[in-house]
Amino acid sequence: MMSTQDRMFPATAMPDREWWHALWPDPDKVVSALRIGQGIMVVDLGCGDGYFTAAIARQVGAGHVVGVDLDPVMLEQAQAAYEGMSNCSWLLGDAMALSRLLDASADYVLIANTFHGVPDKTAMAQEIAKALKPNGRLAIVNWHPLPREQTTVFGHPRGPKTAMRMSTEQTRKVVEPAGFKLETQVELPPYHYGAVFIRTH
Ligand SMILES: C[S@@+](CC[C@H](N)C(=O)[O-])C[C@H]1O[C@@H](n2cnc3c(N)ncnc32)[C@H](O)[C@@H]1O
Repeated sequence: MMSTQDRMFPATAMPDREWWHALWPDPDKVVSALRIGQGIMVVDLGCGDGYFTAAIARQVGAGHVVGVDLDPVMLEQAQAAYEGMSNCSWLLGDAMALSRLLDASADYVLIANTFHGVPDKTAMAQEIAKALKPNGRLAIVNWHPLPREQTTVFGHPRGPKTAMRMSTEQTRKVVEPAGFKLETQVELPPYHYGAVFIRTH
């Protein structure tokens, strides 16, 4: 049986809050750019300390967001920071088993700053497809495939190794075979993009 450590995707540790919040000063704007609508059921997969999950909760209103992470320390931090939010819940588990963790199908799955480290990306997308309603959406937020030394925050190179970074085209090639079609790509300056896919089958 695989341990939690073995199931953790490589190069996906939660960054230090100081530079992370400087890089992403307005998570609500990101959620709007990704066209996460009101009243829907969203999964924030690999939610870390819940920074984007909380922004999604503010956006969905009468809907609901579930933050999923394999690291119990991250989920404890998220729970403590956002305990007043009634439309937000937290699930401890492996993203590769998402459909078995959820009670109900989702309208939208966000995977932010995590997909680059997933060993079998098409299998991940297949598992997300199983967890989504027909015509549900999957948004993948990735670092642009820029050299790491160019993506600096507070004067230091940040983010995954250059070799792990993916273009939208590379992302499309591994996600679409799982039953998705790229719907739109949005810029998330300075170093990221969001690729939004719709489930087709
Ligand atoms: C780089 S952090 C990104 C957190 C958040 N999405 C954000 O952008 O602020 C990646 C997160 O993915 C989680 N993670 C890694 N492997 C996972 C897995 N197999 N299942 C669920 N979560 C996982 C890590 O624990 C970490 O909290």
